Amino acid sequence: MQFALPPRRNLNAPPYIRSSRLSLQRRKQLKAVAILGFALLTVFFLLSQFFYTSTGTAAVSAGTPSLVIVTVLDRVRWSDTYIQKIIKNREDYAKRHGYTNFFANLSDYESSLDNAPKSWGVVPAVRHAMASHPHATHFFYLDVHALFMNPSKSLDSHLLGKSRLDSLMLKDVPVVPPDSIIKTFSHLKPQDVDLIMTTDSEDLSSGSFIIKQGDYAQFLLDIWFDPLYRKYNFAKAEAHALDHIVQWHPTILARLALVPQRIINAYSKDSSSAGVDGNYKDGDLVIRFFGCDTDTKRSCEKEMDPYYRLWSKNSKTE
Ligand SMILES: *[C@@H]1O[C@H](CO)[C@@H](O)[C@H](O)[C@H]1NC(C)=O
Repeated sequence: MQFALPPRRNLNAPPYIRSSRLSLQRRKQLKAVAILGFALLTVFFLLSQFFYTSTGTAAVSAGTPSLVIVTVLDRVRWSDTYIQKIIKNREDYAKRHGYTNFFANLSDYESSLDNAPKSWGVVPAVRHAMASHPHATHFFYLDVHALFMNPSKSLDSHLLGKSRLDSLMLKDVPVVPPDSIIKTFSHLKPQDVDLIMTTDSEDLSSGSFIIKQGDYAQFLLDIWFDPLYRKYNFAKAEAHALDHIVQWHPTILARLALVPQRIINAYSKDSSSAGVDGNYKDGDLVIRFFGCDTDTKRSCEKEMDPYYRLWSKNSKTE
């Protein structure tokens, strides 16, 4: 019943005297002015939105790292001397290019691994790094048993730049060597890549990869760490789980770029299972001592020593 009476305040208002006095032409002019004003406001609003978002993003990325190098340290198993060498090498590299290191401690994740092999620590560590650096765009996970040997190469120019990545991406090749029937997409564009990896002669390499922060990363890290995979006892733990996931889930495969092994994952001469042209050569970005921690006849510390000395000498003379 609230509409039964007209609103009180209108009772004595003059009934539109002004507007009825306006000439037709005047009304047309007013209408044109109103439309023009509205159009101008719209343009102004759109422009302000555009500038707001672009300066907003710039404000976030200024002073925050664009790329974070993720390392998992097992401080119980490895000597402090060894760990300090690895830290020093990575800090030197990060400093040169404005990157940031995230040194994760394996002991922080052990309870969440549920007795799965320790190599699974990579997954919670990358997640942890992303949570700690929410504005960083790229995360480079590099196994601890590896050194940056050519620190002058930035990851941007060496790999991440669009045309550079486009020239390196291996299209329509088996995702798991030597002859998986599942192949990398042939029409993948560098701007659609969220994960960059290499393969050795046996597997997709979970010891060196670059992943972009975002929905894709959250999804991949979640399914990779699924208890089903961790408890499955794959012979090569997280590496075989990854081989499986990438081959069975086109959603994951669709944003994966494979690049030649030596770009981010050159194997030392003592490492078994380097892919074709996967062994370290002078000038390569990194050297990895793949398998030095699982083969009881090898010693990571001894194998790394000559390369560490070489790096140390070169970085001093630069
Ligand atoms: C790992 O442990 C070291 C030494 O205890 C500590 O300084 C560092 O902050 C820890 N890293 C993380 C990511 O919590």
